[in-house]
Amino acid sequence: MSESESMIAEEQQVSLKLLHQGKVRDVYDAGEDRLLMVASDRISAFDVILPQAIPRKGEVLTQLTAWWLDSLRGVVDHHLLSVDPDEIVALVPSLAESRAAWAERSMLVHHTKPVLVECVVRGYVSGSAWKEYRTSGTLAGEPLPEGLIESQELPAPIFSPATKAQTGHDENIPFSGVVERQGEEEANRLRELSFTIYRHGVTLAKERGIILADTKFEFGHHVDGRLLLIDEVLTPDSSRFWPRDEYEPGRGQPSLDKQPVRDFLDKLTSWDKLPPPPDLPDAVVRETTARYLEIFQRMTGTELDDFQHPSFEH
Ligand SMILES: Nc1ncnc2c1ncn2[C@@H]1O[C@H](COP(=O)(O)OP(=O)(O)O)[C@@H](O)[C@H]1O
Ligand SMILES: [Mg+2]
Repeated sequence: MSESESMIAEEQQVSLKLLHQGKVRDVYDAGEDRLLMVASDRISAFDVILPQAIPRKGEVLTQLTAWWLDSLRGVVDHHLLSVDPDEIVALVPSLAESRAAWAERSMLVHHTKPVLVECVVRGYVSGSAWKEYRTSGTLAGEPLPEGLIESQELPAPIFSPATKAQTGHDENIPFSGVVERQGEEEANRLRELSFTIYRHGVTLAKERGIILADTKFEFGHHVDGRLLLIDEVLTPDSSRFWPRDEYEPGRGQPSLDKQPVRDFLDKLTSWDKLPPPPDLPDAVVRETTARYLEIFQRMTGTELDDFQHPSFEH
């Protein structure tokens, strides 16, 4: 059994029914319309999951989401019930025995019916948006201003939705595609909420010397009818964070989180960016863990080990 397989097997020791295994998260049925979302330490590069895990990455994604949702109190309704292991055990007693497999890396959330649109907001032209713009001057078929260079700030943030592909790559769609799928009223709501949360993120990140270049939100319908912000929120996996002091338009920007991995893989001429991916040396793994811990500390002002779990209504 390979290391990645043994890692996945270990995560399955959580004593609940596994509903979904995503690229990064394992989602379990926690009863009473709740899910336990366990963030693994898996890391991907060039859309391939690498064989080595990055210790503490899952914890950082989970606790950072909790920190952001705490900061968004009163701004948006969301799915999070708790990230506090004691509280989670109190709410789902059967999780006590498997605690080591999920504690600190897991969110107990309301089970929703996800909206099948990824709500991306871009403040800068990068990634798939840059690729499309470079070839056709558009984003999801809609024109952007002429003469933009890579990583340039847009005149105003753009709502840039994508389909949530069950397999394969997400595809950018125009706003009219969201209207077709969700109806006009909900499409407008998704766009407004996404802008509001993005602006909130930009403001807080800016105070920490970080550019929130773009990010992806997901929303879901609760059985009680509310539209909730779901999934991870403003994490390095769902967003591009760029260090402001190294920002230079006209090129791709260094990534606050994955740069050690990218640098290592870029130097490897022997890998064609298709599976199977190469092993990461220990030093690269260690450096990447340090990056995730640093992002947490920089954004929240608190070391991960000193972080007090916020409490949410349930
Ligand atoms: N509150 C929620 N209710 C239902 N589904 C959710 C909720 N929060 C997140 N999800 C879904 O759980 C999955 C999280 O796993 P992830 O590893 O991110 O998967 P993916 O590879 O599909 O992105 C996503 O499909 C996301 O849409
Ligand atoms: Mg995801």
